[in-house]
Amino acid sequence: MAQPLPVHDDLSDFAAAVRNGLAQPQKVIPARFFYDHAGSELFEAITALPEYYPTRTEIGILTEQAPAIAAAVGPGRAVIEFGSGSSAKTPLLLRAIAPAAYVPVDISAEFLHLAAAGLAADFPGLPVVPVAADFTRPFRVPAGIAALPRLGFFPGSTLGNLAPAAAVDLLRGFAATLGADSWLVIGIDLAPGPAKPQAMLEAAYDDAQGITAAFNANLLHRVNRELGGDIDVAGFVHRAVWNANLGRIEMHLVARRDMVFRAAGCDFSMASGESIHTENSYKWTLEQAWLLARAAGWTPAAVWTDADARFSLHLWQRGAGVMQP
Ligand code: AVI
Repeated sequence: MAQPLPVHDDLSDFAAAVRNGLAQPQKVIPARFFYDHAGSELFEAITALPEYYPTRTEIGILTEQAPAIAAAVGPGRAVIEFGSGSSAKTPLLLRAIAPAAYVPVDISAEFLHLAAAGLAADFPGLPVVPVAADFTRPFRVPAGIAALPRLGFFPGSTLGNLAPAAAVDLLRGFAATLGADSWLVIGIDLAPGPAKPQAMLEAAYDDAQGITAAFNANLLHRVNRELGGDIDVAGFVHRAVWNANLGRIEMHLVARRDMVFRAAGCDFSMASGESIHTENSYKWTLEQAWLLARAAGWTPAAVWTDADARFSLHLWQRGAGVMQP
């Protein structure tokens, strides 16, 4: 097994993002900083919550459709999973498609290596080549993988955590990483519909056990731990709201009272009711998802949803374009 690339030290990145984000009129801390060790564990717990329908719904679709994916893409591909986390859904795909290699890519090196070791044990003979990297930035595809045809795997609707322009940029980056003759299997959470009321969406991001609230608050604990902050985390309340105009769930941390605090070497103040915006989770219609694909150079080849049209799993092909007028 090849050695992973070194994880990049994002502490200064975090400090700069907190300094800049908390100085804006609508305070913001980017969602990518959720995923330290504690945050990754809390996210894993979220995926098992009764209210959080995306994970189990996507697993259901993938279980049913893996043979169809295998028939379309053929055997012998290197599967590159972007943001692999615990790689929980990966065996469903790998078992179906007879891959030549598996390349999990994740910024959390600790989770990555645990998951890669588990996968390697479950699939003896399959080269598993973990890459510790931020998949939203260009990264080096390991030597030995470069010559293989590739299938990208991006489950979980993580695309939804990016604004549309950034989502298209990311999909373009995937196209560049995966190369000509590649495919992408991508999960995309769907906009509200008849069997998916707004209340269901909001509950998925504000569960009864308070796990999502703890996931959100961990961002402030992380500021205190890593950036010398003295934020009174109990002074904030978790809020998740559906923004219908922008087609996204927004997560905020709302100040319960006026407060002052220090973080990343700067002083900040917040008025009671003021919020720090910590995450967007866009929900797309199928047509919007196809537009994103085409804008980024992908050709939609197939799409599957659950019976209630809550979640979609897409198969896109690179460079399958025909001549346009
Ligand atoms: C990782 N991502 C797709 C999750 C989502 O649904 O937007 C992150 C999350 N935030 C709160 N709950 C889950």
